[in-house]
Amino acid sequence: MYTIAVTNQKGGVGKTTIAMQVAAALSRRHRVLLIDTDPQRSTQWWAGNVARPLPFDYAGPQQPSVLARLPLLKVEYDFVFVDTPGSLEETRTLELVLDAADYALVPMTPEPLAVEPTMRTIHRLIEPRHLRYAIVLNKVDPRIPDQRDTWTHRLDADWGYPRTAETLRLYKAHADAPILGELVTAMPDNRRTAGLIGEVTRLALEVSTHVAATSAGVW
Ligand SMILES: Nc1ncnc2c1ncn2[C@@H]1O[C@H](COP(=O)(O)OP(=O)(O)OP(=O)(O)O)[C@@H](O)[C@H]1O
Ligand SMILES: [Mg+2]
Repeated sequence: MYTIAVTNQKGGVGKTTIAMQVAAALSRRHRVLLIDTDPQRSTQWWAGNVARPLPFDYAGPQQPSVLARLPLLKVEYDFVFVDTPGSLEETRTLELVLDAADYALVPMTPEPLAVEPTMRTIHRLIEPRHLRYAIVLNKVDPRIPDQRDTWTHRLDADWGYPRTAETLRLYKAHADAPILGELVTAMPDNRRTAGLIGEVTRLALEVSTHVAATSAGVW
């Protein structure tokens, strides 16, 4: 069982979106549990709009102490995703989640205001725990020339942070998904959604491979 914290102290970068959609994508082939530790309860509202059943097991909202009790559960999971709060007031929650995690997935938007909080999250909370992690660039706007290249170059060459090869574009379908109760496993596959479904599916495969490889020490 691998526990993946989806985390960034910057709000609105896509933690909830990525936790829900990547958990759904991995549930096609794996046993997945999603835990929400954010008092904002965004996943609860989303999950409430999904036509039942959810493709993964769902526990939210929870205190982070629930993570320590997971091994006692009778059910065994391949992946446990933890959605986390995006505010500085919740640092203690984040610390407890990261203490229990095997891997941190750090969504980041390609905007200057996201840089400092993302770096702070990595330097103060993730790296001191020697936790493997990767940034995933989210909300890349295809209408802005070179945005993806500029930001991947910054991450790779200027700052040297590990990142996923897959990046997620800005899609209205992502923004609509919580209210429509849509997850990649049950979205109509059409022009509105095809790009999104492909990106999330590839990201899920990449993350699952990373997590398993890093835990075996072969990153
Ligand atoms: N790739 C995307 N394209 C379009 N909209 C997106 C994308 N990713 C996220 N969004 C939208 O951006 C907003 C913020 O995303 P989300 O709630 O996932 O971020 P968050 O990091 O969980 O925020 P918080 O810190 O408040 O918990 C939401 O309205 C979401 O639907
Ligand atoms: Mg959220």
